[in-house]
Amino acid sequence: MADSFKIDFQPHGKVESGDLIVFVGDNLKPTPAVAKQIGSKAVDLIAKAAAAETFKGKPKSAMTIVLPNGLSVDRLIVIGVGGEKDRADADFVQLGGLISGKTNGRTATAMLDLPGIDVPPEAVADIALGAQLRRYSFDRYKTKKDENGQKGATRLVLSVADPAAVKKVYKAHEGVLQGITLARDLVNEPPNVLGPQEFAARAQALTKLGVEVEILDEKAMKKLGMGALLGVAQGSVRGARVAIMRWNGGKATDKPVAFIGKGVVFDTGGISIKPAAGMEDMKGDMAGAACVVGLMHALASRKAKANVVGAIGLVENMPDGNAQRPGDIVTTMSGQTIEIINTDAEGRLVLADVLWYVQDRFKPKFMIDLATLTGAILVALAQEYAGLFSNSDELAERLTAAGKATGERVWRMPIGPEFDKMIESKFADMKNTGGRFGGSSTAAALLQRFVNDVPWAHLDIAGTAMGSPQTEISRGWASGWGVRLLDRLVRDHYEA
Ligand code: BES
Ligand code: MN
Ligand code: ZN
Repeated sequence: MADSFKIDFQPHGKVESGDLIVFVGDNLKPTPAVAKQIGSKAVDLIAKAAAAETFKGKPKSAMTIVLPNGLSVDRLIVIGVGGEKDRADADFVQLGGLISGKTNGRTATAMLDLPGIDVPPEAVADIALGAQLRRYSFDRYKTKKDENGQKGATRLVLSVADPAAVKKVYKAHEGVLQGITLARDLVNEPPNVLGPQEFAARAQALTKLGVEVEILDEKAMKKLGMGALLGVAQGSVRGARVAIMRWNGGKATDKPVAFIGKGVVFDTGGISIKPAAGMEDMKGDMAGAACVVGLMHALASRKAKANVVGAIGLVENMPDGNAQRPGDIVTTMSGQTIEIINTDAEGRLVLADVLWYVQDRFKPKFMIDLATLTGAILVALAQEYAGLFSNSDELAERLTAAGKATGERVWRMPIGPEFDKMIESKFADMKNTGGRFGGSSTAAALLQRFVNDVPWAHLDIAGTAMGSPQTEISRGWASGWGVRLLDRLVRDHYEA
């Protein structure tokens, strides 16, 4: 993490020192209450400074007035919330990120009284979450301080109507914050440090929060017949693991919901080896598994009233004398056989066995898998949406709604008999690639063959979880994508 950053909640009142953050509409005016606090001179100063700076109060824009005349604060930071039309879709998490991006090594007080926008306790907690997420950085391996990094200990005071109500809501948000931070850390961690065994140990650490964790080693997987997962792993000297995490916060009789993650700790492509350029990014090929661990952390730390299973398949895909070959045929735990056409289409092989295992053992209400599965999803959806594939309209609609609510957006893509046909094999029950066209859909079609009639959704997160651009709430690369989305889904639909 960056230098220390602390958030406090405080009732509205006069701000005498440090930085003061206020919000204005596109008329450049704060709310009457804020105007009263800062005085009419300061309101005039904002209007004049805005003219000089060509600041128009648009959403996501900000202006800093240093040593504002007539106020005792060091800086007056003015943030725009735009006009009426912009206000309808205010994203409080993003706003929190913007606020904390403006703070700098001292105490800053933000008066969360926004023109034309209601800021209930839930929204304040979202702002605080966004502010914290913005501060994340992964500098564990830098022995020298980054000169351009965020400097100094910062205290951000959020001045609100009802601090006690906010603190109550924020408790749950802190669990989500930790879950996202954990997911980001796992994705950013270099692949020499984070092999399958080390990753499993990180999952095991959730026992501290009351999560039951079980680790399957290769011997256990062999016994279960997980031939597809083990086939991927056989080229690596680092043995595969499956970690199963269980949070039992619901009624004992309640069927669990289940989340499954692709955890390829490094994907060289295997014998169908990838080109050298950019291969280092394939350390992030475990982002699905990282999201599941982060989600379990979030749910357990906020003591979610639901029974939840998280299961992750952890393998390394390496070329080696013992590596799997194109042409090999593997037998999955389900009994179905798969002909390997391309050893770089390994994620679906891992998931095939883990999906089957979870459905067989836990009979879940639904299963959602997350995987950095295909480059093709980047071609289709860029880094804006995750691809959503599902056999259940209800689950797909709930995910879409949760995506809109959190900003972690999903876009439904097709599966069905046309795509299923494309993975028919001459020699086995199916083959592991379906040719050049519809690459994300044929990958999903293979997964579907390992799901019986459980409602299921597959999220292809190759574009959203790793190699991510900087945003207001993330300084890039590992975004921690999916933790907020799925925490929201569980909260809105599956908690007692
Ligand atoms: N891990 C990759 C997919 C990926 C690509 C993730 C880019 C993140 C960024 C996956 O295992 C893979 O290699 N997929 C192949 C499948 C192909 C061989 C059918 C791909 O997308 O090219
Ligand atoms: Mn691959
Ligand atoms: Zn992969």
